[in-house]
Amino acid sequence: MSKTYNVAVLVGSLRKASINRKLALALADLAPANLKLSIVEIGDLPLYNEDIDVEPAPATYSRFRAEVKAADAVLFVTPEYNRSIPAPLKNAVDVGSRPYGQSAFSGKPAGVVTASPGAVGGFGANHQLRQALVFLDMPLLQQPEAYLGGAGNFFDESGTLSDSIKPFLQKFIDAYAAWVEKTAKS
Ligand SMILES: Cc1cc2nc3c(=O)[nH]c(=O)nc-3n(C[C@H](O)[C@H](O)[C@H](O)COP(=O)(O)O)c2cc1C
Repeated sequence: MSKTYNVAVLVGSLRKASINRKLALALADLAPANLKLSIVEIGDLPLYNEDIDVEPAPATYSRFRAEVKAADAVLFVTPEYNRSIPAPLKNAVDVGSRPYGQSAFSGKPAGVVTASPGAVGGFGANHQLRQALVFLDMPLLQQPEAYLGGAGNFFDESGTLSDSIKPFLQKFIDAYAAWVEKTAKS
């Protein structure tokens, strides 16, 4: 019987009506049977500060680290802020990466999806995040790249996913599932 892989999904936007959050949920629906996607919340993490990251660590840090550690893989779905990674997501990356030598991310297969109502599709955030994932030693899906522009049209008022983007999301999540199966530690 094939294994089911648990994927921690980190969404870079904290707003309730976030397009990226809706995309994360759509990807969870489209994921093949061997992949279970669950959003790990990042909005309650205090700004990373080594002074407060001492024993006992803040409960929010411990909760976040435990949820990421329990997952087989990590998928990032995020907007771009000022051509860069939104601060809450970068903060979550920093929290999960510590204490030094005990990173929650180390070795876990990763994927990056960026989406924006603008034309560039979050390219800047996508690649800046990739830069951090190199240091975090995460095997990262390279293709297909997912810079999703025009994201304001991806969902109608009832929240239904548009047929214009659905085939690409299916292609992406199928490729990511194959990547996780190939690279996840058993
Ligand atoms: C502080 C801030 C900076 C932004 N900078 C960019 C940007 O550099 N590139 C871009 O395409 N959109 C930018 N946007 C617009 C976001 O892409 C847009 O608000 C998007 O809907 C946010 O994603 P969400 O719907 O998941 O919250 C910015 C928005 C905010 C609030």
